[in-house]
Amino acid sequence: MQSKKAVFAALGMFAAILVLAVVIVFGFLSARKSYHLPFNITVTFGMDVHTQKNFCWYTSEEVEKGYVYYMEDTGAGFDMDKCIVIEAQSEKVVQKYPVDSIPEEKNPELEDRTFTRHRAFVSDLKPGTRYLYRLGEGDNLSDVYTFKTPGQGKDFSFIIVSDSQGYKRSDFEYYRRVLEKAQDMFGDVDFYMHLGDFVDDGKNFLQWKYVLDIPRYIMANNTFVPVAGNRDDMEVFEYFTLGSVYDTRPMANGYYSFSFNDVHFVVLYTAGNKSLPKKQMSFLEDELKKHKDSRVVVLTHKAPYTNANHADDKEIVALREDLLPVFDKYNVDLVLQGHDHFFFRSEPIHEGKVGNYTYEKVMDGEDEVDMLSDVQGTIYLINSSAGVSRYDGTFREMEDIHAFKSFNMNNPTFTYCTVTENGIILKTYEVNVMRQRVQLIDSFGIRS
Ligand SMILES: [Fe+2]
Repeated sequence: MQSKKAVFAALGMFAAILVLAVVIVFGFLSARKSYHLPFNITVTFGMDVHTQKNFCWYTSEEVEKGYVYYMEDTGAGFDMDKCIVIEAQSEKVVQKYPVDSIPEEKNPELEDRTFTRHRAFVSDLKPGTRYLYRLGEGDNLSDVYTFKTPGQGKDFSFIIVSDSQGYKRSDFEYYRRVLEKAQDMFGDVDFYMHLGDFVDDGKNFLQWKYVLDIPRYIMANNTFVPVAGNRDDMEVFEYFTLGSVYDTRPMANGYYSFSFNDVHFVVLYTAGNKSLPKKQMSFLEDELKKHKDSRVVVLTHKAPYTNANHADDKEIVALREDLLPVFDKYNVDLVLQGHDHFFFRSEPIHEGKVGNYTYEKVMDGEDEVDMLSDVQGTIYLINSSAGVSRYDGTFREMEDIHAFKSFNMNNPTFTYCTVTENGIILKTYEVNVMRQRVQLIDSFGIRS
């Protein structure tokens, strides 16, 4: 009897071990298989926003090639046979990945892992057209996503987010809900811009997987304008493709520019601990000189103009001293800034003082907007963070920082921006993620 029991126990144990082994092997294989599919998908502008798009995505290292399959959206659905196919530049890259597969601590131990990164440059697109696309190779294809090219009209809109930095999966679930709220409210915008510090540690590949893949539906279906922050630094360009096949300087430099209809955007690289090097300053001056008759918006992670936590950091003071005279000289309209996780909007600043302007309250839909006309000077905006991190801002009494508004935030934010012939309007919303409630916290416009 005893020996029969022992045999059953042994058989039971053997069966349990067998089931466990099958589960582990199957789990491992399906995890490997899922990494064959494209992930970390991003879409960016090429050199000409009307006719070019760039793509970046990752796969496991076993997948050695990648393609973009795209076609005009005729309403009849995606048809592989009607697609134009562009081969990506695919290369093996070594990234740092947490040793523990589900790390919830801030600084996990990292080890090298090899992936294939695919970059594709699509050109000759039709302006003002919606396309459908899939990425990948063979059986390992992404879902069908969409992108659109802008028409030549003057009106367009975009969403601004910043500082989504976090390290846990739940941090980026939270950020995803902010993006989703923006998408629910404003749907089909022309692009999103992220003003830097996407993640807590730019070297940690898993954090990038979280920030790009948790909101995959939004990332793969929208064009993003990335700005390098101090946390992500040049690693940003490991995940976004800029420039063209012939000119990849934007990814090598970290700074770049693009024109969207009659607005020229200049994106700065401020990750270092000093002001901007000479080469970048002369790039900025050249850009501003060339576009002195256009409306100009500058994007920068580190905020030269702020009155809270980072206001007297050494490099911020240096940026303020170096950049303000250049912005003055070329009449930059607007500077969009990140880095300080609180809300700040300046008066128009000219030669360190409040510039002249006229001011009125106007209605835009149901919202009251502070509308500034005949503006002399540059307005500086920090829209706070779209992620879990917020400062308990300690405001400095600084004579030369002319805040129109500055306050701490309890919740994440995004800004919806519309550009028309008549001017530019920026509305910043605070999102209560838990209650799914949204509140307009600031609304202003600059009349052209
Ligand atoms: Fe930062």
